[in-house]
Amino acid sequence: MKLRLFVTRDIPDEGLKMLKKDKRIKVEVYEKDEAIPRKELLKRVKGADIILSILTEKMNAQVFDAAGPQLKMVANYAVGFDNIDLVEAAKRGITVTNAAHPSVSESVAEHTIALIFALIHRIAETDAFTRAGKYKAWGPKMFLGTDLTGKTVGIIGSGAIGSSVVKRLHDGFGVQVVYSDIKPNPALEKLTGAKFLSKEELLKTADIVSIHVPLLPSTRHLISTKELRLMKKTAYLVNTSRGPIVDEKALLKALSAGKIAGAGLDVYECEPAIDCDLTDTLELRKMKNTVLTPHTASATIETRQAMSRTAAENVIAFLDGKTPLNIVKTK
Ligand code: GLV
Repeated sequence: MKLRLFVTRDIPDEGLKMLKKDKRIKVEVYEKDEAIPRKELLKRVKGADIILSILTEKMNAQVFDAAGPQLKMVANYAVGFDNIDLVEAAKRGITVTNAAHPSVSESVAEHTIALIFALIHRIAETDAFTRAGKYKAWGPKMFLGTDLTGKTVGIIGSGAIGSSVVKRLHDGFGVQVVYSDIKPNPALEKLTGAKFLSKEELLKTADIVSIHVPLLPSTRHLISTKELRLMKKTAYLVNTSRGPIVDEKALLKALSAGKIAGAGLDVYECEPAIDCDLTDTLELRKMKNTVLTPHTASATIETRQAMSRTAAENVIAFLDGKTPLNIVKTK
């Protein structure tokens, strides 16, 4: 009998084709183009041997129970795996993989740099102004921004994505980069001259701070009131990692009080809500000094297909009795 693989949302086709060709499995994809409602998810995973999940689905004991004891694998279609209860999966012997691929680092690095430029050259703000028909005459002091040239960028987290950002900033823009991490990254330093600093020193030094760490209990609210106070008033914060790494309330306060110059965000603390508390007078969407994108840093055709192939390769390796390349485990 074929193994049952349930895919919680339709993904770009290359990996799905690989899986559908594999005679050992029967692939079933949630047919609607929406995040699968929880109740429906719990119903549809019943009897699944493998679940191919996306990052909006919490993969925890409730889902594992609903699937049944035959569940062997959760292949996440995301690099992040904070949506998966790894401890619970390990207890039940469920193999977990992510969809890390070099292409993801490239796309997220490009998007990070796009957010940096959108902020400092005020692209979103001036686009809205131009579209609204407000451009009446050129002005020497109109919408003054700031250059990247001559600035220092601080990267928090020097893994694959953080390193890709550092390399691009160094090779493409000749920018001085400082970084912080749990340990130094000598290879990156050699390649780019990036300087290792403590998080506190980095926050005091950088003109732009960009976050590239996974969401873990130790990184939740890594940036809060104390950290934002250390930043320069002229500095910008960029987050393309996970929303809860930044304390949103503290960020809103810092932005509205002019404690920092602006923020470029692709991820949100209470995602998909752009603000955790929409009754609050402070709102990210109403601020002129924010650039907001809907968690699309890796949303390129190349990368989303690469992630699809990677998820499929992980499943196929698992079925072949091999250790999948992108296995994730509790530390
Ligand atoms: C996207 O955020 C991912 O983790 O792949």
